[in-house]
Amino acid sequence: MSSTSFPRVASFRTPRDLAGHLSALGWPLPIDEEILQGTASPLAQPLKIPWLGGKRTVGNRFAVHPMEGWDAQPDGLPSELTRRRWLNFGNSGAKLIWGGEAVAVVPEGRANPNQLLLNGRTASALATLRADTVNQHQERFGRTDDLVFGLQLTHSGRFCRPNAFDRLEPLIAYRHPLLDAKHKGNIEPISDAEIERIIAAFGEAARLVLEMGFDFVDLKHCHGYLGHELLSAHERPGRYGGSFENRTRFLRELVEAVRSSAKGLEIGVRISAYDSVPFVPDEKTWRGKPAPAQTPYRWGFGVNPENPVEPDLAETKRFLGLLESLGVKLVNVTAGSPYYCAHIQRPALFPPVDAYLPPVDPLIGAARLQWAARELKSTSNAVIVSTGWTYFQEYLPHIAQALVREGWTDFVGLGRMMLSYPDLPADVLQQGRLERKRICRTFSDCTTGPRLGLPSGCFPLDPFYKARPEAEQLKVLVEQIKEERAVAVAGKGSDEP
Ligand SMILES: Cc1cc2nc3c(=O)[nH]c(=O)nc-3n(C[C@H](O)[C@H](O)[C@H](O)COP(=O)(O)O)c2cc1C
Repeated sequence: MSSTSFPRVASFRTPRDLAGHLSALGWPLPIDEEILQGTASPLAQPLKIPWLGGKRTVGNRFAVHPMEGWDAQPDGLPSELTRRRWLNFGNSGAKLIWGGEAVAVVPEGRANPNQLLLNGRTASALATLRADTVNQHQERFGRTDDLVFGLQLTHSGRFCRPNAFDRLEPLIAYRHPLLDAKHKGNIEPISDAEIERIIAAFGEAARLVLEMGFDFVDLKHCHGYLGHELLSAHERPGRYGGSFENRTRFLRELVEAVRSSAKGLEIGVRISAYDSVPFVPDEKTWRGKPAPAQTPYRWGFGVNPENPVEPDLAETKRFLGLLESLGVKLVNVTAGSPYYCAHIQRPALFPPVDAYLPPVDPLIGAARLQWAARELKSTSNAVIVSTGWTYFQEYLPHIAQALVREGWTDFVGLGRMMLSYPDLPADVLQQGRLERKRICRTFSDCTTGPRLGLPSGCFPLDPFYKARPEAEQLKVLVEQIKEERAVAVAGKGSDEP
């Protein structure tokens, strides 16, 4: 089994070499030759957002994506590990902190037993976490009037695991012919009345978000969780399924709930702009391949129904139009789900243990996310944050500068890079250079850890996590799994080395 039949990004000697490779793949991107420093950089340009909290300016074009750590306490309170991660966000130099991390609005909607939970008991601890993060930013950068900070609210829907990290307790929007196989037993979709209760819980949570001092709330519609799944509920009967109007009713009612319980709180939406039919490992090679699916494919949002590995942004554009009509103008563009099409969602050369070897060069996944952001930005007035930047590695700043200059995206949102190298934005803007040894190489331990019941973190590169006992536990568990897999693959007669 080889994971590395694609060229490593570090093997490109110049930005031009990488540009040539991207063009050869059919996914060209503009790339600057040099990292620009200070005010010369498009990434250093402030962006005025007149409608945000009354004429706010975001100080630069770096954003921190929500990054959960599977490290909250069982009652949903942040732990010391959570605090360390958030302080790193504050210390990063990014002026937009989009979401912090996914915070569940009800206990049964948690994606794992160590997910943050927002309620009357946890709100003051989360308010302290926000304030400490802002103070950290103030200490290092001397001002916070240009820092914008939102909180992501979530319900994990089909991927709820509130009681044990390895036990799904799904609350599904509809029967899915491929994903239901993950759930043992015959599960009934949640009722319209249950959806209404969840909407009310979002409204109540948003009231707390406003009280805690956040600038906006992200009503999460991505990565396979409930809000996202409802967008593809073509076959669900009743008020929340079928037509576009019904599939977006959840969003509209969430916005209404937030507006009535948290007056003045701005709203953002993180959206999986396109999806894919689930991918599964080939049993001989472990490479990802699309699961056989019936067409027209009726179980994806932003997917070409006749060829469900291909994005179709027509409904996504309509969704952005709807957001605009509701006065929601902050949009974070992501894709797919980490549970069934990780290669389009977080492109990696070394995938997490529960996924599959990359079916295509991960640069395709990373570039496609930028092309999608560009297409959506060209038809919308929203402020756009784009995703999938980590895989560009040492060339992240070169591409980011060019894309912001050329108007592909307003903000460059960082995910995994925030775990290995949280102060990348400050280094780019202040020094015009990167520390190579801290660059995320997409080993995926930050995802594999949680899949095996451990907290997330950059075990390969962050000295803090490297020194923790979980680093050794993770190594042992991964070795075991790899050996078992090698035996299984050998049994199937793999042709790959
Ligand atoms: C460990 C880990 C935790 C994540 N937590 C969240 C989360 O809480 N909410 C969310 O919307 N996305 C989450 N994501 C997705 C990231 O925000 C981001 O979309 C993804 O990592 C791709 O961006 P990147 O290429 O910069 O890593 C997480 C990803 C990872 C690897």
